Order: sequence, then C-alpha cells, then structure tokens
Amino acid sequence: MNESKPKVYLTREVVPAVKTRLRPQCNLHINPEDRTLPREDLLREIQDAVVLVPNSPDTIDAEVLEAGSKLKLLANFGVGYNNIDVDAATQLGIPLTNTPGVLTETTADIAWGLLTNVARRIGEGDRMIRADAWEGWGPLQLLGGDITGATIGLIGMGRIGKAMIPRAKGFSMKVIYFNRTRLDEAEERALGIEYASKEQVLAKSDFVSLHVALVPDTHYLIGEAELNLMKSTAYLINTTRGPVVDEKALVTALREKRIAGAGLDVYEQEPTVDAGLLPLENVVLAPHLGSATIGTRTKMGMIVADNIEAFLSGGPLPNIVNPAALG
Ligand code: DGY
Repeated sequence: MNESKPKVYLTREVVPAVKTRLRPQCNLHINPEDRTLPREDLLREIQDAVVLVPNSPDTIDAEVLEAGSKLKLLANFGVGYNNIDVDAATQLGIPLTNTPGVLTETTADIAWGLLTNVARRIGEGDRMIRADAWEGWGPLQLLGGDITGATIGLIGMGRIGKAMIPRAKGFSMKVIYFNRTRLDEAEERALGIEYASKEQVLAKSDFVSLHVALVPDTHYLIGEAELNLMKSTAYLINTTRGPVVDEKALVTALREKRIAGAGLDVYEQEPTVDAGLLPLENVVLAPHLGSATIGTRTKMGMIVADNIEAFLSGGPLPNIVNPAALG
C-alpha cells in the first residue's frame, strides 16, 4: 500500500469491483468487521482520512467532522444523508456527495414486496408453516386485502414515489398523491395520478406508501392523528426512514387494529426495532433492504468511486449535495 496516496476510509465493505477501481488511486482502508463501525474507531480512523465513505448507520456529526482535520470529501454510500450534519460539513468546507438515481427501482420493488406481503399475509403463512401449524387449505384462512383495483396513496413524489406509479398501474390501482410541491397538471395527467391533501390521501387510500426524505419537517409525518385518519382496512408502507413514522403510535394502531397492517423496511432507532412490533402478526418487518441487490449496491459503489475519482483529479463532483462547501 502506498502511504503517500490520500487515505480513503470506508466504514463498511463494498463489492470487489469498487475496490479494484479505487485501489490504484488511493490508500484504501476498510472497516474489517461486518458491522457498523464503533464510534471510537470512526473518531480514530477519520484523523488522517482525506476521504470518508460513510453508510447510513454512521452518525457523522460535528465532533466526527472536526476530528477529521485532513478530511476533504464525504462520499456517502447511499442517497439519504440524514445521518450527516450537512451544515457542519459545509461550514468546515467539506463537500458531501451521495448516490441518487440508482436505487430508485430497487427501493420501489421492496415497497411493493412489503405491500403484497402484508396485504396477502405471506409472512403469517410462512410462520404458520414453519411452526407446523398449517392444517390445510381453508375457505376463511388468512384472508387479506385486495390489491388489484385498490387505491394507493403516495406521500412524496420524488424519484421513488414516481417509480411506484407503474407498479400500481400494473395492478389497475387508482393512484392519489401528496407532495409538498404539486406536480403540474399536464404531468399529473400523463402519469395518471390525482393530487390530494395529506389528510385526503390518508383517508381515501387502501395503501399509503411513504416516499419523503427525512428532514425536520417530515419527522413524525405519520403519528397518531394521521393513523387515525386511515381506513381500518388500510395498510401503511414505509421504506424511507424510520423517524418519518412515530413507531409507538404505529404499534398502538396495529395492536388495536385501527389500521389493517404495515410493511416496514426502516425503523426509528435502527437496528433496534420497537419491541411492541415483534409479536404483531399484521406487520411485515424487513431489515432496511431497500437498495440491497447486487446490481444496485454495485452501482452505488461505482457512484461513490466516480465522486472520489473526480475529487482526486480536481474535477467537478458529479453528485455534490452541499455546493456551498466549496465557497
Ligand atoms: C439510502 O441510500 O439512503 C439507503 O437507505 C441506504 O442507506
């Protein structure tokens, strides 16, 4: 390893192709453990790192950034960066890049998987079989909610929200949506979707799927009041970030059958999942798998490498999030 090259530190492993691409250009260091890097290790490793590649479970706050006296780039492995104090990075003149675009379809796929799984009670059936409790077909066994022809309400109409539309249309669903900024009417017509207030989306939908970024305004976007607006036969799907939903309020709504079910890929305090969710049959729990395919994780790694290479060669950063950091 050539120690004269800048140190690039990855808090988690990446697919081999990304390492092969980066190794000739830098002094690549990677967390050797297949687990989130302990904070003391992060604080040590960042001291001489020129580039840090963090992942969503890493808290990159002002203390971490200030410990990185040589740090010149944060090349985030992921599109979401709510774990990073962007203001502190900007003030310190450290640009942040992310990996937009390449995980849109895979994340929409997992939302769709959760939707079909919870509505058709596949997880419950799986548990029944594994517990050797299945006594054969029954006319009233594990009856779920209809998907085809139902109304889906999309909250958030960015890339992933839009990627849900063809999936829903493939199931002949009516699509309504709420977004902070309404699309123009020509685009709504072309997409075949109708705009409604958040309250109307919650009240009218058979499935509510969340596709907003986690920012201060969307923290607890769905709490007790919002869950109370939903139909008792409706399902909530969350593949964005856990704190968009008040998990305790969701547990109560599910326990009291105020909604029919939920499909979750993200949690308020990952990897801790509210203990109240675990005994409930009407929730499907996935361990933050939204972008977890070989193809997507490879593309994410390649975007990280694109940004690191651009930085090393002094070129413009293709996916900069905080251009103000560059002055
Ligand atoms: C993302 O890219 O934001 C995924 O959730 C992984 O962190």
